[in-house]
Amino acid sequence: MKKAQIFVDKHFILSEVDERIYGSFVEHLGRCVYEGIYQPESPFADENGIRQDVTELIRQLNVPVTRYPGGNFVSGYRWEDSVGPKEQRPAKIDLAWRVVESNQFGLNEFIDWTKQVATQPMMAINLGNRGIDAAKNIIEYTNLKGGSYYSDLRRKHGYEAPHDIKLWCLGNELDGPWQEGHKIALEYGRIAEEAGKVMRLVDPTIETVACGSSSLEMATFGEWEDIVLSQCYDQVDYVSMHQYYGNRDNDSQQFLASSDAMDEFISSVISICDAVRAKKRGKKDINISFDEWNVWYHSNANDDTIEPWSQHPHQLEDVYNFEDALLVASMMITLLRHADRVKIACLAQLVNVIAPIMTSDTGAWKQTIFYPFEMISNHGRGQVLNTLIKAPTFESNHGKNGRSAYLDSVVIENPEAEMLTIFAVNKDLQESLILSCDLRQYEGYQVINHQILHHGDLKAVNTEAHPDNVVPTAKGNAFMENGQLQAILSHQSFHMIQLRKQ
Ligand code: AHR
Repeated sequence: MKKAQIFVDKHFILSEVDERIYGSFVEHLGRCVYEGIYQPESPFADENGIRQDVTELIRQLNVPVTRYPGGNFVSGYRWEDSVGPKEQRPAKIDLAWRVVESNQFGLNEFIDWTKQVATQPMMAINLGNRGIDAAKNIIEYTNLKGGSYYSDLRRKHGYEAPHDIKLWCLGNELDGPWQEGHKIALEYGRIAEEAGKVMRLVDPTIETVACGSSSLEMATFGEWEDIVLSQCYDQVDYVSMHQYYGNRDNDSQQFLASSDAMDEFISSVISICDAVRAKKRGKKDINISFDEWNVWYHSNANDDTIEPWSQHPHQLEDVYNFEDALLVASMMITLLRHADRVKIACLAQLVNVIAPIMTSDTGAWKQTIFYPFEMISNHGRGQVLNTLIKAPTFESNHGKNGRSAYLDSVVIENPEAEMLTIFAVNKDLQESLILSCDLRQYEGYQVINHQILHHGDLKAVNTEAHPDNVVPTAKGNAFMENGQLQAILSHQSFHMIQLRKQ
């Protein structure tokens, strides 16, 4: 059997985990909002039309921040259309997804919903077909107490207290030619700088996110980040990253190695942020908001057949399989291994649209990717240790020097609870790995839980009829002996091993 080791030193702390790394994303797209979180005619809906079966599942995911209202949708968004009496709200065409948006769920309903699911809003402004005036007005509406036109309009709409939104995305993917109002880097850098400035003049306590590249594959990647951040460095706190992967060649081993590409992508963006800081003789780091990440490819062919200008069609409804769940676990581990610079991350998206939660008129169920997210989000809080991993490798298109490790892992310490949590993925599709970790510095720590997500079939899925096909079990075999943690990680499996001081 192959062997792997994790080297831990309790003095080598990489960073506290910013809980916003477990964020998600709700876009006006497909059935994410309508029939997802909001469906007044559903028997599961409360008096505000919010589906309580979905709310319950979102609470289980423990999502501290949610990005809204897009995505590509935001580049045509008129926030004013989405507030006030519902019967007066206009139905408008949305060029991003070629649908009709009814505006029956809008900004204020979103804020009400965030309270119900215990998440913070991360609001995106439209820097596609709009600019700094709309940016100024929306933050006046949401964050000022009253005494001005837009803040009083909010009060008139029934919201006496300001929404006090702290986190703002300055547009979305404006490097993308598919975007309404696509920009070259200098144009975007300028408008982001001005929008950030104006919004901070209204509320100096906010944090802002500049658009980075839409993916590593963009021809402008690198130059985009450099020009944009050089322009708006003083007005932004984070730069965004977006990346989706797909097993398009049906090569599962290479697909699972994609998290190495994500790792490399993050390191590259950090380098550019630091180069800009150096050029500016800057005092602050620009950190990363990885505000769209996931697997996305299963639904591509179906989406090409959708007739335009309908309302909330079945769009981007990927049905996730077991190998997708393994990659999601690896992607989360990758984010955590960069917790010193990745402070926000959003699984794209939350319900129905490339999502961990699916709904029908008769219920809601958990896709395979629900489980790694739930386990890591709930138990991956504390501080990330700067560990070294020694593991066998395989030939890969994504790893350094053409090789990727079979083992992905991260170790998180929670000193208050006197707990250690190890998340690990064995990407070997044939063989188990014998894992060992010298934990003599953690005297008295014993294994209290070892959960596994494993399935013999990489293509196994969960459906409404069979929602429990791929689920975690507490059947792990990790144990401590003479200060050494030992565990057998079966082939193609994700593990959560928890230890507590006894
Ligand atoms: O999440 C789906 C889409 O992917 C988003 O709208 C867009 O920002 C990205 O291209």
